[in-house]
Amino acid sequence: MAVDSFSAKARKISANIGAHYVDNARNLPWRSPPGGDLPDPYHVWLSEIMLQQTTVGAVKSYFEKFTARWPTVECLAAANEADVLAAWAGLGYYARARNLHKCAVHVAEKMHGIFPRKESELLGLPGVGAYTAAAIAAIAFGKRAVVVDANIERLVARLFAIDTPLPKGKIEIRAAMDAITPKQGAGDFAQACMDMGATICTSKNPKCDICPVQKQCAAFALGNMESFPVKPPKKDKPVRRARFFWIERQDRILLATRPPKGMLGGMRALPDDGWAAGNDGHAMPPIAGKWQVHDNIVQHSFTHFSLEVDLAVYQDEKIATNKDENIWWPLNDIAEAGLPTLYAKAVKWKLKEEK
Ligand code: ADE
Repeated sequence: MAVDSFSAKARKISANIGAHYVDNARNLPWRSPPGGDLPDPYHVWLSEIMLQQTTVGAVKSYFEKFTARWPTVECLAAANEADVLAAWAGLGYYARARNLHKCAVHVAEKMHGIFPRKESELLGLPGVGAYTAAAIAAIAFGKRAVVVDANIERLVARLFAIDTPLPKGKIEIRAAMDAITPKQGAGDFAQACMDMGATICTSKNPKCDICPVQKQCAAFALGNMESFPVKPPKKDKPVRRARFFWIERQDRILLATRPPKGMLGGMRALPDDGWAAGNDGHAMPPIAGKWQVHDNIVQHSFTHFSLEVDLAVYQDEKIATNKDENIWWPLNDIAEAGLPTLYAKAVKWKLKEEK
């Protein structure tokens, strides 16, 4: 495309998406309305960390729970990491929660509770990568930053029919997003693009009939919207096996705290057999007893592998353990234990099976 027609197209896209947002912005708890005052940086940072790899629908109630319990970054910094991890349970990708707390402590203690405004300074904070730094700089501080998440990637790849397969295609997609991002209101613009990606320019069955940039869309003109962005070939995921141990005494079950490093690190969990992303567990119970094993009660999908879980059950009124990191948790209050979804699924299975 000639330079002039490229920049004319970029200007039209920018204007049409901006105008569409004024009447169609989603009303989300961490947002200001289009053109309104800049939102609280603590809210923007918290929501952006929660929204990494997680949908708006899943995040809303967690965002509200966190801001009610910890209304400022100083409050969050003063919380116990274990309480933050437990409150995060169910959102997945738990390294985010550990980094969230670390970042809150850093901002509260080293920065007087004030988030840095520059993209380059934000990038140095725990858990804040290129996407999140750009999103916070643009949304919370009104800076011009180029924001590209998966929704924007799809929208932009289609608008410009960028057919270089991901991840290589990200370079062209970012350059195109740079070309359409306005000087003023980059935060609103980024969120307008996110909303379009989530509601109109969806992966399957995009709603091109109501799209404000249909006329500018190269993929629409080609009639093959769904083939953008071009994905790399899918790799088969390895399947790992794990065994969880249900140890019950007097209406309480034994919970362990997972080692601080590694998958689901620091989370409360059922005792298990040391499964990991790279290996099956050893299936050996932690104590001798009359174990009853139920095969393959739960399947769970992680990013790079799937896990099939057996549950070994030992119920006795007189079980003793000597491990300090274990705790006898009342079964009636199991919902408050903050178990990650994988372990919560096994508990649900067991409680259902008893009925
Ligand atoms: N996904 C990531 N950040 C978002 C935001 N600010 N609004 C909507 N969806 C998002």
